[in-house]
Amino acid sequence: MSDAGGAAIEDYYLEERLFPPPEGFVDQAVVADPAIAEHAQRDVEGFWADQARALDWFDEWHTVLEWDLPFAKWFVGGTLNVSYNCLDRHVAAGLGDRVAIHWEGEPGDTRTITYSELLADVERFSNVLKGLGVRRGDRVAIYMPMIPELPVAMLACTRVGAPHSVVFGGFSPDALRDRIDDAQAKVLVTADGGWRRGSVVALKENADSALADTASIEHVVVARRTGESGGVTPMTEGRDHWWDEVMAGAEASCPPEHMDAEDLLYLLYTSGTTAKPKGIMHSTGGYLTQVAYTHRAVFDLHADRDVYWCAADIGWVTGHSYIVYGPLANGATSVMYEGTPDFPDKDRWWDIIERYGVTILYCAPTAIRTFMKWGNEFPERHDMSSLRVLGSVGEPINPEAWVWYWTHIGGGHCPVVDTWWQTETGAIMISPLPGVTTCKPGSATFPLPGIGAEVVDDAGEKVERGGGYLTLTRPWPSMLRGLYGDPERYRQTYWSRFEGRYFAGDGAKVDDDGYFWLLGRVDDVMNVSGHRISTAEVESSLVNHPSVAEAAVVGAKDDTTGQAIIAFVTLKAGQDETTEHGEDLRGHVARHIGSIARPRTVIFTDELPKTRSGKIMRRLLRDVAEGRDLGDTTTLADPRVVEEIRRLSTTRPTED
Ligand code: WT7
Repeated sequence: MSDAGGAAIEDYYLEERLFPPPEGFVDQAVVADPAIAEHAQRDVEGFWADQARALDWFDEWHTVLEWDLPFAKWFVGGTLNVSYNCLDRHVAAGLGDRVAIHWEGEPGDTRTITYSELLADVERFSNVLKGLGVRRGDRVAIYMPMIPELPVAMLACTRVGAPHSVVFGGFSPDALRDRIDDAQAKVLVTADGGWRRGSVVALKENADSALADTASIEHVVVARRTGESGGVTPMTEGRDHWWDEVMAGAEASCPPEHMDAEDLLYLLYTSGTTAKPKGIMHSTGGYLTQVAYTHRAVFDLHADRDVYWCAADIGWVTGHSYIVYGPLANGATSVMYEGTPDFPDKDRWWDIIERYGVTILYCAPTAIRTFMKWGNEFPERHDMSSLRVLGSVGEPINPEAWVWYWTHIGGGHCPVVDTWWQTETGAIMISPLPGVTTCKPGSATFPLPGIGAEVVDDAGEKVERGGGYLTLTRPWPSMLRGLYGDPERYRQTYWSRFEGRYFAGDGAKVDDDGYFWLLGRVDDVMNVSGHRISTAEVESSLVNHPSVAEAAVVGAKDDTTGQAIIAFVTLKAGQDETTEHGEDLRGHVARHIGSIARPRTVIFTDELPKTRSGKIMRRLLRDVAEGRDLGDTTTLADPRVVEEIRRLSTTRPTED
């Protein structure tokens, strides 16, 4: 496990303390009942079928699971509609006046949207999409800020059976173009701009430059968000339409399509080990079944009284599953926030929790560590006694952050659930169950009922106790159905490393009590603030710069963001190794991919350490970046290179 990207297990065992569910915590019968876990053990398909029955189906399935490794089909023969499950059935059950979304914009404007209102908007926008020629099966790209029009657009896509591809609003025009091209999307839904720390992100301008080199998009719908503050938004006659104008002209009612359980619900692009992002495919019936189930079980959801806040961006899978589909399928009331935690001040989050009476909070360890750094005075001056359950996702949470979260945010009365999952798994896979599981800070504890997870060694043998590779041993309803347009890469990436097993790409350890500890990626994928970035993607961006000859990128441990991007760069002859040049390269990557991919540090070096076969030794570079002992360097073609880099790295960092 020397190649694990994250921290060594020793770092996690500073102090082993057990945290049983807080006294007085109200167990939700559905999860606390041991019969549920027992059912999942004895008859896993029957267990999942029970969970699927919590949804409304137009036609029931005839077969729960068809498994032809690595291709799974769940609830075969069943038909349903996702927007119907998220909206119509709640309204029909008399819950139309329940708040679906308490939306809060960054500048402080708010909107309260009930289930009836959300349904009305979704039906209208479904008709807008149809009017623009979108038919069942057509792909729709969505590039938006965190405004209510974003879930409306997604749900409308599901209503008409058009798979969406949401592209995070922080991505660059190039990244947007690649994703539109790969999916051959027909319509793009965007906004004039979005707010971030008081300034405007020019989404429409980015979209226009992406569209300059794509052919598939026929129409663009533009929601108004920043208006005049973002300058004049140029609209292309015949192609571009203002959201409010097309909505005003649309019919009010749109019946939901009856979709097959296995129909493609959406694509979401994620970084792999190559420079080309992968289009993860999610299905309709299995996906909705598992996100709804896990959202109820893991957060102990009482939809009639909880106020749930997942502080992620819908542009990532966390937002798809736990801002949009899980909570709405369960008829929950959610908070949706557009901005950053420090705008206009560092009280913003705690103020939101206090004002809306948030009971369940779900966020990433990077946020928690940032709050720790800012100091306790911010949360302390707010009444957060409404909180009941706290969740963590996206990266390993260190025990100090876990205990701080428990103590200073949860006041010692909220279970903390550390949830492990991936874009590919679609839904939470490993997590404590509140009211049931005794936690160890830093451990995601156990696989959920219905999930088979095991740690294996290099040879694929199960490791009962100790470290190894995290694998999943059987199919699960919300598993990815493939990579868009590339079934072979799907098999190769996930199902070939260990026979008969899904390989997650993470290192993990099972401790003496059987608890799972996630140790970070073991492949060339970095995790910065819970966001996944491929080393290859950043490298390929760097070598695209005219001055760069070669580049190697690693993720080095960072106290706040989990990992930070460090780029080792060899310049072409005659180029200057100056701080300004380093800055220029950092900016280049940010423009090319998005600011989340901006390297923290660029280190110039005359050569990169390579094996005799020419492979760049990233492990070594990571050791250099993290200031570790280099260990065995005998496989290096030229061992002197490392000493050279080490000398440079201490003298020439270009940091913020
Ligand atoms: C990778 C997946 C899951 C939604 C957000 C990220 C890491 C995720 C945890 C956790 C330790 C975690 C893994 C995983 N990860 N959750 N609770 N503890 N690591 O989704 O972008 O697909 O990234 O995030 O390394 O493989 P993603």
